Amino acid sequence: MDLNEKARDILRQNDKGGYTLPTKGLYPYQWNWDSAFAAWGFATFDMPRAWDEFDTLMTSQWDDGMVPHIIFHEPDPGYFPGPDVWLTDQSPPTSGISQPPVAAILARLVWEMDKAAGQERLATLYPKLVAWHRWWHEVRCTHGPAAIVHPWESGRDNCPDWDIGMAEVDGTGAGEYTRRDLGHVDASMRPKQEEYDRYIAMVKFGVSVGWNQKRIVAEGPFLMADPGITFILLRAHEDLIAIGEALGQDTSEIEGWATTLRLALADIWNPEIKAYDAKNLHTGEFAGVLGSGAFLAYLAKAGNPELDTQLMRVWNVVSYGIPSADPEAAIFDPRRYWRGPTWPVVNSLLALGFRDMGRFDLEARLKAETADLILKHGFYEYFDPVDATPCGGADFTWTAAIWLTWAGDDYEQARGAA
Ligand code: SER
Repeated sequence: MDLNEKARDILRQNDKGGYTLPTKGLYPYQWNWDSAFAAWGFATFDMPRAWDEFDTLMTSQWDDGMVPHIIFHEPDPGYFPGPDVWLTDQSPPTSGISQPPVAAILARLVWEMDKAAGQERLATLYPKLVAWHRWWHEVRCTHGPAAIVHPWESGRDNCPDWDIGMAEVDGTGAGEYTRRDLGHVDASMRPKQEEYDRYIAMVKFGVSVGWNQKRIVAEGPFLMADPGITFILLRAHEDLIAIGEALGQDTSEIEGWATTLRLALADIWNPEIKAYDAKNLHTGEFAGVLGSGAFLAYLAKAGNPELDTQLMRVWNVVSYGIPSADPEAAIFDPRRYWRGPTWPVVNSLLALGFRDMGRFDLEARLKAETADLILKHGFYEYFDPVDATPCGGADFTWTAAIWLTWAGDDYEQARGAA
């Protein structure tokens, strides 16, 4: 089967009717940022289905504006922690934290693919996106940059950025439980047990305060500024402004959030590592490690020559895409989830930034390296950036989606020419 057809097949097979599983087995529910990428992928062959994906995601928006990171549409014993652990009192049940707000970025791209067909769907989505962005501004940006209260909120679960914050969390509060992820993926490619204990203890803290988000920020065991979400949110604010203007809305409130957030970028610049850096907001201490979250600066037009030097240094040490952690640092672990592997989905976001900056050379290199991984091994969740070993879940929705929208462009052209 040709790769474009295979990618469309993955989206169709992971489609549960209105929402799409990231991959069968490992992630049997709707995940927030995965879902927005699924919409982008569907938009290449089924525009109404693309808009349905956004709608289903936003249907689970909380009253305070938060859009949760998992929506547990149907019970599935193959995943832990499920709804009986999160206990958020939502219907359908959801988790109690959010995830990188890529939806406005991708909704704008989907709408630009067919403005006439998308106008009405976009207008329905717009106030919900505004409410979600307001939640980020009011609840998670109280310290300036975007903060996370759980590593899973960053989407980059076990990346070294969070190590200093995780060290403060007491994992003994997790109690007895059985991990399910290890039944689907080799343990060497997943977070370690001591990390899981802390993840679960943090969920239990959320339950203990009835998922009161302000209390979680003020009293919770973990609070770190996330460069990745900060840049995604900044870019998403700007895309939401463009959407609002196209819909004839007053966007001044969003412009205010964007201006404030851009000013806060100085707080996450660490001169010691010459890069943006995560920060423990309990202590003011920088993480002191370079990760792919810092490079998402390019998505928000926040690059600079020092960051360029770091980017080229880490990229030139590996062969396939941009690694999730610094390959020259001791913590680099090339197959362990977010501690080294390259993620096609993050590469696609970085490429958007490179393209907008006019760095077509960087975009072309990143596309060729990402496509190479998929051509060699298929639509995996992530890959070893040194030797291309496929890692994590197979037949992955967002990898298929970014193939259809971006990484597979040249393959498409080559087939046309043949
Ligand atoms: N990525 C997490 C997991 O591995 C949850 O978002 O279960």
